[in-house]
Amino acid sequence: MTLKILDAARTAQFLPFPGLVDALRAGFTDGCQFPERHHHAMKRTDEPDATLLLMPAWTNPDEASQFLGVKLVTVVPGNASRGLPGLVSTYILYDGLTGEQLALMDGNTITGRRTVATSALAAKYLSRPDSSRLLVIGAGRVGSLIPEAYRAVRPIEEVKVWDMNQEATRRMVQDLEAKGIRATAVEDLRDAVAWADIVSSATLATEPIIKGDWLRPGTHVDLIGGFTPKMREADDATIAASALYVDTLEALHEAGDLVQPMKSGLIDEKSVRATLAELARANIPVRRDSVEITCFKAVGSALADLVAAKMVYRELGGSE
Ligand SMILES: NC(=O)c1ccc[n+]([C@@H]2O[C@H](COP(=O)([O-])OP(=O)(O)OC[C@H]3O[C@@H](n4cnc5c(N)ncnc54)[C@H](O)[C@@H]3O)[C@@H](O)[C@H]2O)c1
Repeated sequence: MTLKILDAARTAQFLPFPGLVDALRAGFTDGCQFPERHHHAMKRTDEPDATLLLMPAWTNPDEASQFLGVKLVTVVPGNASRGLPGLVSTYILYDGLTGEQLALMDGNTITGRRTVATSALAAKYLSRPDSSRLLVIGAGRVGSLIPEAYRAVRPIEEVKVWDMNQEATRRMVQDLEAKGIRATAVEDLRDAVAWADIVSSATLATEPIIKGDWLRPGTHVDLIGGFTPKMREADDATIAASALYVDTLEALHEAGDLVQPMKSGLIDEKSVRATLAELARANIPVRRDSVEITCFKAVGSALADLVAAKMVYRELGGSE
């Protein structure tokens, strides 16, 4: 068996959003096997310690085609002073039955695209079907993919972009306009939040950016960024005002947007109405009316990585 090697562009080529959203719906419905992700610290002497992160997942034993995948991520903070990226990610896909290697893919591309497609899948069940105004907060690797993913599920006509880095905002607005998507940089965040049908945030913020008082009835809030208990993208008023949903229950232990309001007693585990697996299995919109505020908090999963990697491999087979 020949090992196929795909760089970022080729990995992305086989992950179009409408197909990926459908594949994730099937993947979250069926589930798969995945242990807790592993973190290994690597001591350094003259710079911050580096980390190796491993995210394995494999198909259920009763599936007709068996796959095993592992995402390997190196996080090297010291690379900032070398002018190199601080995070490098590779995905390895194996035949789950024989253990033979099938393909090596760009892990950043798998992560970015499966992340925004996961949010788009959730928005299919949670946002108003007529949602046409999208506010993106955070114009980085993940944030810049949000509009394209949402356009696969909702009639997005206009995008507003906010990032604390003005150059990143300008670049994303330009890229969207080049693709024929109406886009502008946000001048007043409060007005932009009140304007939006969907607010989607992918930042590294540790203080809330989205304020519940600014939200209009009927808005869907999508929180992608915070992945540690200290990180926050939305304030308590947002959490209190929202019908809450999560990608996996890990979000209750990892994400500051939920961990902190749980600690203060504002919400408890029962406040979360459903996981994405439950939404996908029901496969019907769950928003109660046009004024409910909904909020989806994701921390990411090895399941979504495996779904995306299997899709790349299948599409690749068809094209060769
Ligand atoms: N939920 C998931 O499955 C998942 C998957 C991948 C990444 N993430 C998370 O999403 C976040 C973004 O990842 P990325 O790869 O796009 O990072 P990135 O560094 O490429 O982009 C982050 C952007 O956010 C901006 N930003 C940071 N803090 C901000 C603030 N307080 N207000 C406004 N803008 C701010 C930065 O200027 C930058 O442009 C990270 O926290 C990452 O861990 C989540």
